[in-house]
Amino acid sequence: MSLLVKGGTVVGPTGTRVADVLVEGEKIVAVLDPSYTPQITANEVIDASGKYVIPGGIDAHTHMEMPFGGTSASDTFDTGTRAAAYGGTTTIIDFAIQRTGEVVQDGLAAWHAKTDGECHIDYAFHMILGGVDADALKAMDRLVADEGITSFKLFMAYPGVFYSDDGQILRAMQTARENGALIMMHAENGIAIDVLVQQALERGETDPIYHGITRPAALEAEATNRAIALAEVAQDCPLYIVHLSASQALAKVAEARDQGRNVFAETCPQYLYLTLEDQLGAPGFEGAKWVCSTPLRSKHESHQRDLWKGLRNNDLAIVSTDHCPFCMKDQKELGLGDFSKIPNGIGGVEHRVDLVFQGVVDGQLSLERWVETIATTPARMFGLYPQKGIVQPGSDADLVIYDPNGTTRIGAATHHMNMDYSAYEGIEIKGRVGTVISRGEVIVADGNYHGRKGRGKFLKRGLSSYLM
Ligand code: URP
Ligand code: ZN
Ligand code: ZN
Ligand code: ZN
Repeated sequence: MSLLVKGGTVVGPTGTRVADVLVEGEKIVAVLDPSYTPQITANEVIDASGKYVIPGGIDAHTHMEMPFGGTSASDTFDTGTRAAAYGGTTTIIDFAIQRTGEVVQDGLAAWHAKTDGECHIDYAFHMILGGVDADALKAMDRLVADEGITSFKLFMAYPGVFYSDDGQILRAMQTARENGALIMMHAENGIAIDVLVQQALERGETDPIYHGITRPAALEAEATNRAIALAEVAQDCPLYIVHLSASQALAKVAEARDQGRNVFAETCPQYLYLTLEDQLGAPGFEGAKWVCSTPLRSKHESHQRDLWKGLRNNDLAIVSTDHCPFCMKDQKELGLGDFSKIPNGIGGVEHRVDLVFQGVVDGQLSLERWVETIATTPARMFGLYPQKGIVQPGSDADLVIYDPNGTTRIGAATHHMNMDYSAYEGIEIKGRVGTVISRGEVIVADGNYHGRKGRGKFLKRGLSSYLM
């Protein structure tokens, strides 16, 4: 089976050109100057003239079915990966979880059981370590060597749930430095935050907005700085800060990068587009829609401007969604009368490719940087390159044909995520995902779905090819 994507503008991290993309089976076999293709016959031809042809999006941070706060993220691997496909994402990296007190391999087996036969697109796992001890450190080596899991997330937040202390973090970093893995860090000082949360509740401050107010930027910056220092002590263990939202934390990352350190960070669309004031302006309990950690930041500070700048200059390498959806009904509502019981998370796996493209429209990013932050760098950072993340011969034929003249209006009535609201309700994007191809198969065309559950494959990842 062959497929020719004809006449589109192929966008890669180093440039754009009008070219025809020839696909045989699951692979790209040629990217050709259009003058060569009249001689080529293909079973199917898709006209991409006037459109961008980009590598399928790679969302390196999602939480389908994640247990959190007495409930579970509302998208299953079935519904969540289908929604991702609609939005031009053809690979996710989700998180298998070792709960505190659990054996790491049991946690991993549980996530394989959840995902087997369920995913619409290709998927991989990072491993959340909820209990770093001697067994977990040994398990890290085995996961890297045998299981294709080469990145581990630790939490400086959520004491009593996923939290690691500085000694545990240092040991995990030393182990990663030895076996080549990447440490991903949820950088917020959870011990100090818990004090602020208790004090707020004692004052009767129970509304959703106090979630953000009790997680100040200074405590994101402090934890980011501490993680960077611990990684330095662990002989420059590669460190990746997840869901960075505050200028002050970004400054710490920038400082380490200026020193040539292997310190990287991602931000998320919610921090680029939404603010604490959106949440503050919402009536009653509605603010719960935007409860996530790290929290949304104030528009009166320079966070959003600084995050876009960080994306331009590569102090921020990647845009991931941290997709962790909960419905208002029965889920976010668990925190009625006590904001600390609102499950943390925002769903957005369907909108990342569009929301970052809007940055191109707004003059914040180049086309090349759009592709780099949503596909190429995630592939390189997390050991999937060049199988994924690039339009070139030999790579998987994961392609998105993107229409810069289309429009996308985001809303709960039209999205495909299993959420009863949208965090981005009413936002309009000047661009639209047209055709989505996953390993040579057209899975979305003109808003119609042609994929199926179970076609997504588990990807064993290699070590990062992004390190200095
Ligand atoms: O609020 C968030 N980010 N929920 C998901 C879990 C995490 O910390 O990434
Ligand atoms: Zn986190
Ligand atoms: Zn997350
Ligand atoms: Zn997480």
